[in-house]
Amino acid sequence: MLKSDFAALAPMPDDPILGLVDLYKKDPRDSKVNLGVGVYLNEEGKLPLMSCVEEAERRIAARREPRNYMPMSGLPQYCASIQKLVFGAENPAVLSGRIATIQTLGGTGALQLGAAFAHQFLGVNQGVVSDPTWGNHIAILKADGLEVGKYAYINEARNAINFEGFKAALKALAPKTLVLLHGCCHNPTGVDLSREQWEEAADIIQERDLLPLVDMAYQGFGQGIEEDAYAIRMFADRGMTFLAASSCSKNFGLYGERVGALHVICENAQIAATVTSILKRIVRQEYSNPPCHGGKIVAEVLADAELQKAWREEVDVMRARILDMRQSLFEAGKAEGQDFSFAVEQKGMFSFTGLAPEEMDALREEYGVYGVRNSRICIAGLNSKNVAYVARSIAAILKKRA
Ligand code: LMR
Repeated sequence: MLKSDFAALAPMPDDPILGLVDLYKKDPRDSKVNLGVGVYLNEEGKLPLMSCVEEAERRIAARREPRNYMPMSGLPQYCASIQKLVFGAENPAVLSGRIATIQTLGGTGALQLGAAFAHQFLGVNQGVVSDPTWGNHIAILKADGLEVGKYAYINEARNAINFEGFKAALKALAPKTLVLLHGCCHNPTGVDLSREQWEEAADIIQERDLLPLVDMAYQGFGQGIEEDAYAIRMFADRGMTFLAASSCSKNFGLYGERVGALHVICENAQIAATVTSILKRIVRQEYSNPPCHGGKIVAEVLADAELQKAWREEVDVMRARILDMRQSLFEAGKAEGQDFSFAVEQKGMFSFTGLAPEEMDALREEYGVYGVRNSRICIAGLNSKNVAYVARSIAAILKKRA
């Protein structure tokens, strides 16, 4: 290869979310607050190691298992238990075997695999994402060969759903378009569809013959572990064929283990078996088989009734703390003479502050409060010690508008 070709390479800009982590680390200010990346921090501002995970790891370590290659589709016990968690153990789609579930490299890996499958094997060439969406969604779909468009999602004030616009956008799509939907806890806005709105969306998706890819990275962080799976389960109950990506990064605190799953909901068990064989082939070519540790932890927790109960309680505690912080931010805003009702109206880890990109820059540069330039802050990074400071800092930025 010519040396000049290498010399001509231009560096890539930092990732808008993960790049903030490095900036934050380098910031010497004691008052800095990390509300950038979507990671759950506890009241002490620390990423907790969940006690059910710790116990599962103890048990796994005691077994001293050798580290053989994993099956291309991942650990079977993990796949079976995560499928039940996402769809419900008694869901007819689960019981009939019509869901092909495969362990993936986190939720990102599931999205990538799903998009690759749709493009290469279903002939899907168009994809649409919500405006706005998680930045990586667009890049993933494009990298898998799809042309990517956007569908209307939030209103002009950027604090509530633009449901009429959303429906009109879905109705205008060509059949066989992949529609990337956020199953719960919309990232970045925290604005979710109501159950009635999900039903209406499902009607249009079926009428238009669209292919949903439902991204559910935050099960348990919105309204509850079962409640957050409403859309996915309702789609399955309608007999729809679709794709879903799930992740254990947030709800098991296993960010660095890269453990997620792709679920392809098929018409019957025979087709699901064929789909599994295809997914295995894609995996074999891309990374051969997934790492084993994260999947083993999740399988261990979900297989043991007591550990699973402890896990559910820990997720409930995390969700309650986030809700608490939403309320605290709202109250702290009031104390500053600001209406932060976005904080209590939106769901999940994130909220949209309504600040412009330059205002988010100023928030970071002047006050050391790190949020994403698209206006997103991670509510799970707030705690009782920093929430008033964050409210004061956002208020100070807003006051400059006048
Ligand atoms: C986020 O949105 O902050 C997380 O999903 C982490 C990531 O990979 O961007």
